[in-house]
Amino acid sequence: MELGLVTAGESHGPALVAIVTGLPAGLVLEQAAIDEDLRRRREGYGRSPRQKLEQDEVEILAGLRHGTTLGTPLALVIRNRDHKNWAWGMSPWPPDGAAEGKGTSPVTLPRPGHADLAGALKYGHADVRNALERASARQTAAHVAAGAVAKALLREIGVSVVGTPREIGGEESDTGMREATDAARSDRDTLGGVVEVVATGVPPGLGSYAEKGGRLDARLAAALMGIQAVKGVEVGDGFALARVRGSQAHDEIEPGLRRATNRAGGIEGGVSNGEPLVVRAAMKPLPTLMRPLRSVDLESGEPGEALVERSDVQAVEALSVVAEAAVAWELARAALEKFGGDALEDFLAAHRAYLDRIRWQR
Ligand SMILES: Cc1cc2nc3c(=O)[nH]c(=O)nc-3n(C[C@H](O)[C@H](O)[C@H](O)COP(=O)(O)O)c2cc1C
Repeated sequence: MELGLVTAGESHGPALVAIVTGLPAGLVLEQAAIDEDLRRRREGYGRSPRQKLEQDEVEILAGLRHGTTLGTPLALVIRNRDHKNWAWGMSPWPPDGAAEGKGTSPVTLPRPGHADLAGALKYGHADVRNALERASARQTAAHVAAGAVAKALLREIGVSVVGTPREIGGEESDTGMREATDAARSDRDTLGGVVEVVATGVPPGLGSYAEKGGRLDARLAAALMGIQAVKGVEVGDGFALARVRGSQAHDEIEPGLRRATNRAGGIEGGVSNGEPLVVRAAMKPLPTLMRPLRSVDLESGEPGEALVERSDVQAVEALSVVAEAAVAWELARAALEKFGGDALEDFLAAHRAYLDRIRWQR
């Protein structure tokens, strides 16, 4: 069965929900490992005080018994601790009593760079909050939880996936990144950056050249572009390859079928080639500025300043965790397609038999 994921949840609603289908039975999950990834997503230099409020913890409602998957849909829930301050404003049912707390008055000034305007027009929302609550990157917490499950499956076949921030505001060193963040914060501005995800232990043969939709590079690009604020993706040396000669662009094959270089980033012809998989994603500067951008009031048609909602200066470290989860998810999906199995044991046996057939040394 194909690995499937659906998530739901508004940023200030009661909870985020993820339902994972197609997991084999017999996979051991650890709550601490999922919570650790949620903590990594939340923390990081440059994030807003909201992150301190959300002490994310995963709850499992279905699909797991005594820590082991049952082969049935896995239902994960992450409660929004901040919802208590929005209980009236984000009540799923018409709220009782007088308006109190946050989110009580309609938002009519859409923020440039967010889904606010396009979302309000598309769905006919007079209150922009009806669009921004779901478009918010808060939903990435659900994807990180699902990614932690994918990583547990990948670990069984010796694959590990790690995301790292590489640039923040054009700075590559740790001190440069911090200084750029501090400077942007004092200017009430925001920054973007670049993250890198590396997966090791990926066997050759994941993905397919047979159809464009099966290509692993296309799938990873879609997974990364599916994350809020990601505006560009590179595989291996990516855009730099466009500026060098062929003799400097490819990875010669050596005895043992390994490569001295990895400019391709572990994918040739849309198929993993056994080298470490290397992808990068570029994040635009966050669109909510403490010094608001110009907008227009959707009710009055008058110019105004965009809504200022509590916001991060930059979220590049958080993106590195979200991107890691997205890559892990796509690799787990590709691995299950290749090796299949209702029981983890079947999956592992198929993986072992395949490595034996191609005589691949891990
Ligand atoms: C982990 C993460 C955290 C983010 N935090 C913020 C934030 O605090 N403030 C903000 O304005 N945008 C934030 N964003 C970016 C917006 O969610 C995103 O730019 C917006 O939804 C519009 O989508 P688009 O940039 O893909 O067009 C964050 C994105 C990610 C991945």
